Amino acid sequence: MKNIFLYGPPGTGKSTVGKKIAASLKLPFVDLDRIIETDAGMSIPKIMEGQGEPAFRDLETAALKKVIAEPAAVIALGGGALLRDENRAIAEFNGQILLLMAELPTLLERLQGEPGKRPLLTGDLSAKLSALLAKREGHYNSFPLKIHVDNKTAEQNAHHAQVALGRHHLSAMGEYDVIVGQVSNLTSYPLQSPIIVTDENVAKFHLEKLQAALNAKAVVIPAGEEHKTLETISFLWKSFLENGLDRKSTVIALGGGVVSDMAGFAAATYMRGINWICVPTTLLSMVDASIGGKTGFDLPEGKNLIGAFYPPKLVLADPSLLFTLSERELRSGMAEVVKHGIISDPDLFAMCNRGMDWVKSNLEEVVKRAIAVKIQVIEEDPYERGFRAALNLGHTVGHAVELVSRFDLRHGEAIAIGMAVEAAYAARIGLSTPGVVKAVQDSLSALNLPIAIPREMPREEIIRAMRVDKKKNAKAIRFALPVEIGKVELVDVTDLESVLE
Ligand SMILES: NC(=O)c1ccc[n+]([C@@H]2O[C@H](COP(=O)([O-])OP(=O)(O)OC[C@H]3O[C@@H](n4cnc5c(N)ncnc54)[C@H](O)[C@@H]3O)[C@@H](O)[C@H]2O)c1
Repeated sequence: MKNIFLYGPPGTGKSTVGKKIAASLKLPFVDLDRIIETDAGMSIPKIMEGQGEPAFRDLETAALKKVIAEPAAVIALGGGALLRDENRAIAEFNGQILLLMAELPTLLERLQGEPGKRPLLTGDLSAKLSALLAKREGHYNSFPLKIHVDNKTAEQNAHHAQVALGRHHLSAMGEYDVIVGQVSNLTSYPLQSPIIVTDENVAKFHLEKLQAALNAKAVVIPAGEEHKTLETISFLWKSFLENGLDRKSTVIALGGGVVSDMAGFAAATYMRGINWICVPTTLLSMVDASIGGKTGFDLPEGKNLIGAFYPPKLVLADPSLLFTLSERELRSGMAEVVKHGIISDPDLFAMCNRGMDWVKSNLEEVVKRAIAVKIQVIEEDPYERGFRAALNLGHTVGHAVELVSRFDLRHGEAIAIGMAVEAAYAARIGLSTPGVVKAVQDSLSALNLPIAIPREMPREEIIRAMRVDKKKNAKAIRFALPVEIGKVELVDVTDLESVLE
């Protein structure tokens, strides 16, 4: 796994935020300035005073080379550490660089409390800092990945930093990293006798390259929900046996939610459980299916009726894999992104309003933000004893509509209809307002997603399907309903007809 370098002007909180990110990612934290001081046996002001800035920069380069030779860490850099091209090249090659930026008043307020610590700023702090920022403006602006830290707590900044970096560590159910990054990163991951499970469509575009890079075996299954069956699981178990997989082998699921649900389940059950890694290739699987450890398959009686909670060892989401996905599939995945926006990220929801062209040019940001919402929810409630049910927003009606359409509707299209119908119901029962209904409809429409149940679809069949999808004999069915954009509530509903009015 790669290092994380935190960079930016003095006073942006690189060390405070860095420690929090490191704790959350279970990585070591390194403050480069402290390494320099330890190695030199004196403080930075003393080095600057006695040997001058060029000598200090030499020590900085040496310290940087030293830390990148160690296992991956979160590394806080001095405010000018990457001015030297050599240092910048070292950091870029060995990890991600995140710039922390702040307005002058924020920096002044923070730095006033520590006079003498920063030799380049001694004297008139305000004048010196303004001059330094002006001088380095172009330099700081040249770093593409940045967050603004003004008016936020260190916790909030650490969270924003992780979202921007696309780096998370989950620990509520198993321990694993969720990373947004290039699939080629897998080559640096220790893998024993890996086997790639993928479907015939994904195989055409992405299998050869990954298989060669990992020197892995591969098994290709037919594509589509209709193959998410016990027969395919059986085929996978037999393929694992024929390929000599043992308890130390790793299954790599390369595909959409159908592939990851089945490859994960086959891994969960083969020899009582072997490791698996998820490389999602649809938007829906990146932001939803790959995260949370639910695996399984369908029975003729209903979707996902058999399954296991069995988290992967790693989820690696590479947005560039989405370029081969059809427009319809991409749009379908956006329904889950809208859902995540409604659950707890109004900014993400607002982005969805900008339409598909904007989404296509900003896929990485969309993926990173939507993933963060799902992670927040499942870390709070991994086994769906309470709040995780919020993720069912749009799904009670949506699953039923999907089933009754005989899967003519893509999952996300059905969920879009479900969200619009459930939002309207929430407003009718006084839980939300017509404004929320309109916002949900507008956002889905901006993405060309459907918002109404097809007229010819029999309402009784949808209601029957809703009952089968949940517990058949339950008196009430629990809905996740929007209260406002950024907040949902769980509500038990007995009169299902009233939901579809
Ligand atoms: N485990 C969970 O928590 C969870 C959550 C949500 C959904 N799911 C499950 O996920 C499934 C739906 O997932 P999905 O929408 O990803 O469907 P999918 O896996 O069927 O993929 C959709 C289609 O896109 C193709 N495809 C995938 N990636 C591609 C790529 N990069 N380029 C070209 N074609 C590509 C596939 O071959 C398939 O034809 C459902 O079975 C659903 O139950 C699971």
